[in-house]
Amino acid sequence: MRGAVFLLVVVVCAAAAVVVAGGAAAVAVDFSGDGAVAVEAGWRFPSSRMRDAYVALQTWKQEAIFSDPNNLTADWVGPEVCNYTGVFCAPLPWDRRVLAVAGVDLNHGDIAGYLPPELGLLGDLALLHLNSNRFCGVLPATLRRLRLLHELDLSNNRFVGAFPDVVLHMPALRFLDLRFNDFEGAVPRQLFDRPLDAIFLNHNRFRFDIPDNFGNSPVSVIVLAHNSFGGCLPASLGNMSGTLNEILLINTGLNSCLPPEIGMLREVTVFDVSFNQLAGPLPSAVAGMRKVEQLDVAHNLLTGTIPQAVCELPRLKNFTFAYNFFTGEPPSCARSVPRDGDRRNCLPNRPAQRTLQQCAAFFARPPALPFEDYILLRPN
Ligand SMILES: *[C@@H]1O[C@H](CO)[C@@H](O)[C@H](O)[C@H]1NC(C)=O
Ligand SMILES: *[C@@H]1O[C@H](CO)[C@@H](O)[C@H](O)[C@H]1NC(C)=O
Ligand SMILES: *[C@@H]1O[C@H](CO)[C@@H](O)[C@H](O)[C@H]1NC(C)=O
Ligand SMILES: *[C@@H]1O[C@H](CO)[C@@H](O)[C@H](O)[C@H]1NC(C)=O
Repeated sequence: MRGAVFLLVVVVCAAAAVVVAGGAAAVAVDFSGDGAVAVEAGWRFPSSRMRDAYVALQTWKQEAIFSDPNNLTADWVGPEVCNYTGVFCAPLPWDRRVLAVAGVDLNHGDIAGYLPPELGLLGDLALLHLNSNRFCGVLPATLRRLRLLHELDLSNNRFVGAFPDVVLHMPALRFLDLRFNDFEGAVPRQLFDRPLDAIFLNHNRFRFDIPDNFGNSPVSVIVLAHNSFGGCLPASLGNMSGTLNEILLINTGLNSCLPPEIGMLREVTVFDVSFNQLAGPLPSAVAGMRKVEQLDVAHNLLTGTIPQAVCELPRLKNFTFAYNFFTGEPPSCARSVPRDGDRRNCLPNRPAQRTLQQCAAFFARPPALPFEDYILLRPN
Protein backbone atom coordinates (compact mmCIF):
# COMPACT_ATOMS: atom_id res chain seq x y z
CA MET A 1 0.00 0.00 0.00
CA ARG A 2 2.77 2.39 0.99
CA GLY A 3 4.58 1.46 -2.21
CA ALA A 4 1.49 2.16 -4.29
CA VAL A 5 0.98 5.60 -2.75
CA PHE A 6 4.62 6.44 -3.32
CA LEU A 7 4.38 5.35 -6.94
CA LEU A 8 1.29 7.48 -7.45
CA VAL A 9 3.09 10.58 -6.19
CA VAL A 10 6.08 9.87 -8.42
CA VAL A 11 3.84 9.48 -11.46
CA VAL A 12 1.96 12.66 -10.68
CA CYS A 13 5.23 14.57 -10.28
CA ALA A 14 6.40 13.24 -13.63
CA ALA A 15 3.17 14.43 -15.22
CA ALA A 16 3.62 17.84 -13.63
CA ALA A 17 7.10 18.06 -15.11
CA VAL A 18 5.68 17.43 -18.57
CA VAL A 19 3.04 20.12 -18.19
CA VAL A 20 5.67 22.54 -16.98
CA ALA A 21 8.00 21.73 -19.84
CA GLY A 22 5.15 22.45 -22.23
CA GLY A 23 4.59 25.80 -20.51
CA ALA A 24 8.25 26.68 -20.92
CA ALA A 25 7.88 26.68 -24.68
CA ALA A 26 5.20 29.36 -24.50
CA VAL A 27 5.62 31.51 -21.44
CA ALA A 28 3.16 34.05 -22.75
CA VAL A 29 0.25 31.58 -22.75
CA ASP A 30 -2.91 32.89 -21.21
CA PHE A 31 -4.18 30.78 -18.37
CA SER A 32 -7.83 30.64 -19.29
CA GLY A 33 -7.45 27.32 -21.11
CA ASP A 34 -7.38 23.82 -19.69
CA GLY A 35 -5.98 23.18 -16.26
CA ALA A 36 -7.01 26.36 -14.49
CA VAL A 37 -10.10 26.23 -12.30
CA ALA A 38 -13.26 28.06 -13.33
CA VAL A 39 -14.58 31.11 -11.47
CA GLU A 40 -18.22 31.09 -10.41
CA ALA A 41 -20.24 33.33 -12.66
CA GLY A 42 -21.86 35.51 -9.96
CA TRP A 43 -18.64 36.41 -8.09
CA ARG A 44 -17.36 39.97 -8.12
CA PHE A 45 -13.65 40.66 -7.55
CA PRO A 46 -12.35 44.10 -6.65
CA SER A 47 -9.90 43.87 -9.55
CA SER A 48 -8.74 41.52 -12.28
CA ARG A 49 -5.54 40.94 -10.27
CA MET A 50 -7.63 39.50 -7.42
CA ARG A 51 -9.48 37.31 -9.87
CA ASP A 52 -6.14 36.10 -11.26
CA ALA A 53 -4.91 35.41 -7.73
CA TYR A 54 -8.05 33.37 -7.07
CA VAL A 55 -7.46 31.27 -10.19
CA ALA A 56 -3.80 30.74 -9.27
CA LEU A 57 -4.43 29.72 -5.66
CA GLN A 58 -7.44 27.54 -6.41
CA THR A 59 -5.68 25.75 -9.26
CA TRP A 60 -2.79 25.10 -6.89
CA LYS A 61 -5.08 23.79 -4.16
CA GLN A 62 -7.43 21.76 -6.31
CA GLU A 63 -5.06 20.31 -8.86
CA ALA A 64 -1.52 20.45 -7.60
CA ILE A 65 -1.69 19.83 -3.83
CA PHE A 66 -2.07 16.18 -2.87
CA SER A 67 -1.54 16.28 0.87
CA ASP A 68 -1.92 19.08 3.39
CA PRO A 69 -1.66 17.40 6.80
CA ASN A 70 -1.83 20.70 8.74
CA ASN A 71 -4.91 21.87 6.84
CA LEU A 72 -3.24 25.15 5.88
CA THR A 73 -5.26 25.37 2.69
CA ALA A 74 -8.51 24.17 4.27
CA ASP A 75 -9.81 27.75 4.42
CA TRP A 76 -8.81 28.50 0.83
CA VAL A 77 -12.46 28.74 -0.14
CA GLY A 78 -14.35 31.49 -1.92
CA PRO A 79 -13.28 34.73 -3.56
CA GLU A 80 -11.74 36.51 -0.53
CA VAL A 81 -8.20 35.34 -1.17
CA CYS A 82 -6.75 37.84 1.33
CA ASN A 83 -8.36 35.78 4.10
CA TYR A 84 -6.69 32.53 3.06
CA THR A 85 -4.18 31.14 5.57
CA GLY A 86 -0.65 31.96 4.44
CA VAL A 87 -1.77 34.54 1.86
CA PHE A 88 -0.96 38.20 2.55
CA CYS A 89 -2.35 41.22 0.77
CA ALA A 90 -0.92 44.72 0.64
CA PRO A 91 -1.56 47.90 -1.33
CA LEU A 92 0.32 48.18 -4.60
CA PRO A 93 3.47 50.28 -4.16
CA TRP A 94 2.48 52.57 -7.04
CA ASP A 95 -1.24 52.82 -6.20
CA ARG A 96 -2.06 52.56 -2.51
CA ARG A 97 -5.79 52.31 -3.24
CA VAL A 98 -5.43 48.92 -4.91
CA LEU A 99 -4.99 45.78 -2.82
CA ALA A 100 -2.90 42.89 -4.24
CA VAL A 101 -1.58 39.51 -3.11
CA ALA A 102 1.92 40.41 -1.97
CA GLY A 103 3.00 37.31 -0.08
CA VAL A 104 2.45 33.57 0.21
CA ASP A 105 4.02 31.93 3.25
CA LEU A 106 3.42 28.22 3.73
CA ASN A 107 6.67 27.55 5.62
CA HIS A 108 6.75 24.26 7.53
CA GLY A 109 3.48 23.22 5.96
CA ASP A 110 4.55 19.64 5.12
CA ILE A 111 2.38 20.04 2.01
CA ALA A 112 2.92 17.62 -0.89
CA GLY A 113 2.32 18.71 -4.44
CA TYR A 114 3.91 20.75 -7.18
CA LEU A 115 3.92 24.33 -8.45
CA PRO A 116 1.45 24.72 -11.33
CA PRO A 117 2.09 27.20 -14.18
CA GLU A 118 -0.90 29.26 -12.96
CA LEU A 119 1.26 30.59 -10.11
CA GLY A 120 2.57 32.97 -12.77
CA LEU A 121 -0.77 34.76 -12.32
CA LEU A 122 0.40 36.04 -8.91
CA GLY A 123 2.11 38.93 -10.65
CA ASP A 124 2.26 41.20 -7.57
CA LEU A 125 3.96 38.68 -5.30
CA ALA A 126 6.93 40.02 -3.34
CA LEU A 127 7.49 37.00 -1.06
CA LEU A 128 7.12 33.30 -1.74
CA HIS A 129 8.11 31.21 1.26
CA LEU A 130 7.60 27.48 0.89
CA ASN A 131 10.31 26.08 3.11
CA SER A 132 9.91 22.61 4.65
CA ASN A 133 7.20 21.18 2.46
CA ARG A 134 7.09 18.31 0.02
CA PHE A 135 6.79 20.19 -3.24
CA CYS A 136 8.35 18.26 -6.08
CA GLY A 137 9.09 18.52 -9.78
CA VAL A 138 10.51 21.61 -11.43
CA LEU A 139 9.65 25.32 -11.30
CA PRO A 140 7.22 26.51 -13.97
CA ALA A 141 8.74 28.93 -16.47
CA THR A 142 5.72 31.19 -15.93
CA LEU A 143 7.23 32.31 -12.62
CA ARG A 144 9.24 34.80 -14.64
CA ARG A 145 6.07 36.88 -14.57
CA LEU A 146 6.71 37.59 -10.90
CA ARG A 147 8.37 40.92 -11.67
CA LEU A 148 8.16 42.09 -8.02
CA LEU A 149 9.36 38.91 -6.32
CA HIS A 150 11.97 39.85 -3.76
CA GLU A 151 12.35 36.69 -1.66
CA LEU A 152 12.10 33.13 -2.92
CA ASP A 153 12.53 30.43 -0.31
CA LEU A 154 12.07 26.90 -1.66
CA SER A 155 14.38 25.24 0.85
CA ASN A 156 13.82 21.76 2.19
CA ASN A 157 11.48 20.46 -0.51
CA ARG A 158 11.80 17.86 -3.26
CA PHE A 159 12.49 19.99 -6.30
CA VAL A 160 14.64 18.28 -8.91
CA GLY A 161 16.28 18.84 -12.25
CA ALA A 162 18.56 21.52 -13.59
CA PHE A 163 19.13 24.83 -11.84
CA PRO A 164 15.82 26.75 -12.18
CA ASP A 165 16.88 29.36 -14.74
CA VAL A 166 13.60 31.17 -14.25
CA VAL A 167 15.04 32.81 -11.12
CA LEU A 168 17.58 34.61 -13.34
CA HIS A 169 14.67 36.46 -14.96
CA MET A 170 13.12 37.90 -11.80
CA PRO A 171 14.32 41.49 -11.80
CA ALA A 172 13.47 42.25 -8.15
CA LEU A 173 14.86 39.04 -6.61
CA ARG A 174 17.32 39.65 -3.74
CA PHE A 175 17.04 36.52 -1.59
CA LEU A 176 17.30 33.07 -3.16
CA ASP A 177 17.14 29.96 -1.00
CA LEU A 178 17.20 26.61 -2.80
CA ARG A 179 18.98 24.60 -0.10
CA PHE A 180 18.01 21.02 0.76
CA ASN A 181 16.50 19.99 -2.58
CA ASP A 182 17.66 17.69 -5.36
CA PHE A 183 18.70 20.19 -7.99
CA GLU A 184 21.59 18.91 -10.07
CA GLY A 185 24.10 19.87 -12.73
CA ALA A 186 25.72 23.22 -13.32
CA VAL A 187 24.88 26.54 -11.72
CA PRO A 188 24.69 29.15 -14.51
CA ARG A 189 27.34 31.85 -14.35
CA GLN A 190 24.64 34.50 -14.82
CA LEU A 191 23.60 33.84 -11.21
CA PHE A 192 26.68 35.73 -10.03
CA ASP A 193 25.79 38.74 -12.17
CA ARG A 194 22.38 39.09 -10.52
CA PRO A 195 21.84 41.75 -7.81
CA LEU A 196 21.23 39.16 -5.08
CA ASP A 197 21.92 39.78 -1.42
CA ALA A 198 21.79 36.14 -0.27
CA ILE A 199 22.29 32.85 -2.11
CA PHE A 200 21.76 29.47 -0.43
CA LEU A 201 22.46 26.46 -2.64
CA ASN A 202 23.71 24.02 0.00
CA HIS A 203 22.68 20.36 0.12
CA ASN A 204 21.80 19.83 -3.51
CA ARG A 205 23.52 17.86 -6.23
CA PHE A 206 25.06 20.77 -8.08
CA ARG A 207 28.32 19.94 -9.79
CA PHE A 208 30.23 22.77 -11.44
CA ASP A 209 33.41 24.77 -11.42
CA ILE A 210 32.91 28.07 -9.67
CA PRO A 211 32.99 30.50 -12.64
CA ASP A 212 35.47 33.37 -12.90
CA ASN A 213 32.70 35.98 -12.59
CA PHE A 214 31.89 34.74 -9.06
CA GLY A 215 33.28 37.98 -7.64
CA ASN A 216 30.70 40.04 -9.54
CA SER A 217 28.09 38.91 -7.03
CA PRO A 218 27.11 41.60 -4.50
CA VAL A 219 25.91 38.99 -1.96
CA SER A 220 26.50 39.43 1.71
CA VAL A 221 25.86 35.72 2.41
CA ILE A 222 26.60 32.78 0.14
CA VAL A 223 26.34 29.15 1.18
CA LEU A 224 27.41 26.57 -1.37
CA ALA A 225 28.17 23.77 1.10
CA HIS A 226 27.59 20.09 0.33
CA ASN A 227 27.68 20.26 -3.45
CA SER A 228 30.53 19.31 -5.76
CA PHE A 229 32.76 21.98 -7.29
CA GLY A 230 36.28 20.68 -7.26
CA GLY A 231 38.63 23.36 -8.43
CA CYS A 232 39.36 26.75 -7.01
CA LEU A 233 37.90 29.90 -5.68
CA PRO A 234 38.47 32.45 -8.47
CA ALA A 235 40.61 35.52 -7.92
CA SER A 236 37.60 37.73 -8.67
CA LEU A 237 36.63 37.02 -5.05
CA GLY A 238 38.61 40.17 -4.31
CA ASN A 239 35.78 42.20 -5.80
CA MET A 240 33.51 41.05 -2.96
CA SER A 241 35.65 42.80 -0.38
CA GLY A 242 33.14 45.52 0.46
CA THR A 243 30.02 43.34 0.61
CA LEU A 244 30.74 39.71 1.54
CA ASN A 245 29.92 38.83 5.15
CA GLU A 246 29.62 35.07 5.25
CA ILE A 247 30.88 32.40 2.88
CA LEU A 248 30.42 28.70 3.57
CA LEU A 249 32.07 26.18 1.28
CA ILE A 250 31.93 23.12 3.53
CA ASN A 251 32.34 19.81 1.70
CA THR A 252 32.39 21.19 -1.82
CA GLY A 253 35.39 19.27 -3.16
CA LEU A 254 37.61 22.36 -3.21
CA ASN A 255 41.22 21.43 -3.67
CA SER A 256 44.31 23.39 -3.18
CA CYS A 257 43.45 26.76 -4.49
CA LEU A 258 42.63 29.60 -2.15
CA PRO A 259 43.72 32.69 -4.11
CA PRO A 260 45.62 35.41 -2.23
CA GLU A 261 42.62 37.68 -2.88
CA ILE A 262 40.89 36.04 0.10
CA GLY A 263 42.95 38.52 2.09
CA MET A 264 40.89 41.34 0.56
CA LEU A 265 37.69 40.12 2.26
CA ARG A 266 37.80 42.78 4.92
CA GLU A 267 34.09 42.52 5.84
CA VAL A 268 33.92 38.74 6.18
CA THR A 269 32.87 37.46 9.60
CA VAL A 270 32.33 33.76 8.77
CA PHE A 271 34.71 31.86 6.49
CA ASP A 272 34.30 28.09 6.39
CA VAL A 273 36.16 25.84 3.95
CA SER A 274 36.11 22.71 6.13
CA PHE A 275 35.81 19.18 4.74
CA ASN A 276 37.64 19.82 1.45
CA GLN A 277 40.99 18.78 0.00
CA LEU A 278 42.92 21.99 0.56
CA ALA A 279 46.65 21.17 0.74
CA GLY A 280 49.83 23.11 1.43
CA PRO A 281 50.27 25.81 4.07
CA LEU A 282 47.45 28.05 5.30
CA PRO A 283 47.98 31.26 3.29
CA SER A 284 49.06 34.15 5.46
CA ALA A 285 46.68 36.26 3.35
CA VAL A 286 43.94 34.96 5.66
CA ALA A 287 45.19 37.57 8.12
CA GLY A 288 43.66 40.20 5.82
CA MET A 289 40.17 39.18 6.96
CA ARG A 290 40.22 41.79 9.69
CA LYS A 291 36.65 41.17 10.89
CA VAL A 292 36.57 37.38 10.79
CA GLU A 293 34.99 35.80 13.87
CA GLN A 294 34.40 32.21 12.78
CA LEU A 295 37.21 30.61 10.79
CA ASP A 296 37.01 26.91 10.00
CA VAL A 297 39.59 25.07 7.88
CA ALA A 298 39.16 21.69 9.61
CA HIS A 299 39.25 18.36 7.73
CA ASN A 300 41.65 19.31 4.93
CA LEU A 301 45.25 18.35 4.10
CA LEU A 302 46.89 21.56 5.30
CA THR A 303 50.48 21.54 6.53
CA GLY A 304 53.12 23.85 8.02
CA THR A 305 52.78 26.31 10.86
CA ILE A 306 49.64 28.34 11.55
CA PRO A 307 50.55 31.97 10.69
CA GLN A 308 50.74 33.94 13.91
CA ALA A 309 49.00 36.93 12.32
CA VAL A 310 45.90 34.75 11.76
CA CYS A 311 45.62 33.83 15.43
CA GLU A 312 46.04 37.49 16.33
CA LEU A 313 43.11 38.69 14.22
CA PRO A 314 41.28 41.10 16.56
CA ARG A 315 37.74 39.65 16.33
CA LEU A 316 38.56 35.98 15.94
CA LYS A 317 36.39 33.96 18.34
CA ASN A 318 36.45 30.43 16.98
CA PHE A 319 39.31 29.21 14.82
CA THR A 320 39.04 25.50 14.11
CA PHE A 321 41.67 23.56 12.17
CA ALA A 322 41.32 20.00 13.48
CA TYR A 323 42.02 17.05 11.15
CA ASN A 324 44.86 18.51 9.08
CA PHE A 325 48.63 17.95 9.18
CA PHE A 326 49.80 21.19 10.77
CA THR A 327 53.13 20.95 12.57
CA GLY A 328 53.26 24.30 14.38
CA GLU A 329 50.81 26.41 16.40
CA PRO A 330 51.89 29.77 17.84
CA PRO A 331 51.02 30.30 21.53
CA SER A 332 48.76 33.25 20.60
CA CYS A 333 46.31 30.76 19.08
CA ALA A 334 45.21 29.66 22.55
CA ARG A 335 42.86 32.67 22.73
CA SER A 336 40.76 31.82 19.66
CA VAL A 337 41.10 28.05 19.16
CA PRO A 338 38.45 26.17 21.14
CA ARG A 339 39.31 23.06 23.10
CA ASP A 340 39.66 20.30 20.50
CA GLY A 341 39.89 22.91 17.73
CA ASP A 342 43.44 21.75 16.95
CA ARG A 343 43.09 18.01 17.51
CA ARG A 344 44.24 15.38 15.01
CA ASN A 345 47.14 17.33 13.54
CA CYS A 346 50.88 16.67 13.88
CA LEU A 347 51.47 19.28 16.60
CA PRO A 348 54.17 18.50 19.13
CA ASN A 349 53.10 18.82 22.78
CA ARG A 350 49.38 19.12 22.04
CA PRO A 351 46.76 16.57 23.14
CA ALA A 352 44.76 14.31 20.83
CA GLN A 353 47.14 14.50 17.84
CA ARG A 354 47.61 11.99 15.02
CA THR A 355 50.12 9.25 15.73
CA LEU A 356 53.76 9.70 14.74
CA GLN A 357 53.28 6.90 12.21
CA GLN A 358 50.31 8.64 10.56
CA CYS A 359 52.20 11.91 10.31
CA ALA A 360 55.35 10.23 8.99
CA ALA A 361 53.36 8.33 6.37
CA PHE A 362 51.62 11.53 5.22
CA PHE A 363 54.82 13.55 4.92
CA ALA A 364 56.59 10.71 3.11
CA ARG A 365 53.98 11.03 0.35
CA PRO A 366 52.28 14.43 0.59
CA PRO A 367 49.37 15.01 -1.79
CA ALA A 368 50.29 16.26 -5.24
CA LEU A 369 49.41 19.94 -5.47
CA PRO A 370 47.27 20.08 -8.56
CA PHE A 371 47.64 23.70 -9.56
CA GLU A 372 50.67 25.65 -10.65
CA ASP A 373 49.43 28.72 -8.84
CA TYR A 374 49.93 26.80 -5.64
CA ILE A 375 53.00 28.97 -5.37
CA LEU A 376 50.63 31.81 -4.52
CA LEU A 377 49.68 30.00 -1.34
CA ARG A 378 53.15 30.08 0.14
CA PRO A 379 53.45 32.30 3.18
CA ASN A 380 55.16 35.55 2.26
C1 LIG B 1 -7.11 18.39 9.37
O1 LIG B 1 -8.45 18.12 9.04
C2 LIG B 1 -8.80 16.75 9.14
C3 LIG B 1 -10.20 16.57 8.59
O2 LIG B 1 -11.05 17.57 9.05
C4 LIG B 1 -8.68 16.32 10.59
O3 LIG B 1 -8.99 14.96 10.72
C5 LIG B 1 -7.25 16.56 11.05
O4 LIG B 1 -7.13 16.26 12.41
C6 LIG B 1 -6.84 17.99 10.81
N1 LIG B 1 -5.40 18.11 11.07
C7 LIG B 1 -4.90 19.08 11.84
C8 LIG B 1 -3.41 19.07 12.06
O5 LIG B 1 -5.61 19.96 12.32
C1 LIG C 1 -12.32 38.32 5.54
O1 LIG C 1 -11.70 39.05 6.57
C2 LIG C 1 -12.35 40.28 6.85
C3 LIG C 1 -11.49 41.04 7.85
O2 LIG C 1 -11.12 40.19 8.92
C4 LIG C 1 -13.76 40.04 7.32
O3 LIG C 1 -14.42 41.26 7.56
C5 LIG C 1 -14.51 39.26 6.25
O4 LIG C 1 -15.77 38.91 6.71
C6 LIG C 1 -13.75 38.00 5.88
N1 LIG C 1 -14.43 37.39 4.77
C7 LIG C 1 -14.70 36.09 4.75
C8 LIG C 1 -15.43 35.59 3.56
O5 LIG C 1 -14.39 35.35 5.65
C1 LIG D 1 37.11 43.12 -10.34
O1 LIG D 1 36.30 43.43 -11.45
C2 LIG D 1 36.95 44.15 -12.45
C3 LIG D 1 35.92 44.52 -13.48
O2 LIG D 1 35.04 43.50 -13.71
C4 LIG D 1 38.05 43.30 -13.03
O3 LIG D 1 38.72 44.00 -14.06
C5 LIG D 1 39.03 42.98 -11.93
O4 LIG D 1 40.02 42.12 -12.40
C6 LIG D 1 38.31 42.33 -10.76
N1 LIG D 1 39.18 42.22 -9.63
C7 LIG D 1 39.58 41.07 -9.18
C8 LIG D 1 40.42 41.08 -7.96
O5 LIG D 1 39.26 40.05 -9.73
C1 LIG E 1 33.39 26.60 16.63
O1 LIG E 1 33.02 26.35 15.28
C2 LIG E 1 32.73 24.98 15.00
C3 LIG E 1 32.36 24.83 13.55
O2 LIG E 1 32.97 25.73 12.73
C4 LIG E 1 31.60 24.51 15.87
O3 LIG E 1 31.35 23.13 15.62
C5 LIG E 1 31.94 24.73 17.31
O4 LIG E 1 30.82 24.40 18.10
C6 LIG E 1 32.31 26.18 17.59
N1 LIG E 1 32.78 26.29 18.96
C7 LIG E 1 32.47 27.33 19.73
C8 LIG E 1 33.04 27.32 21.10
O5 LIG E 1 31.74 28.23 19.34
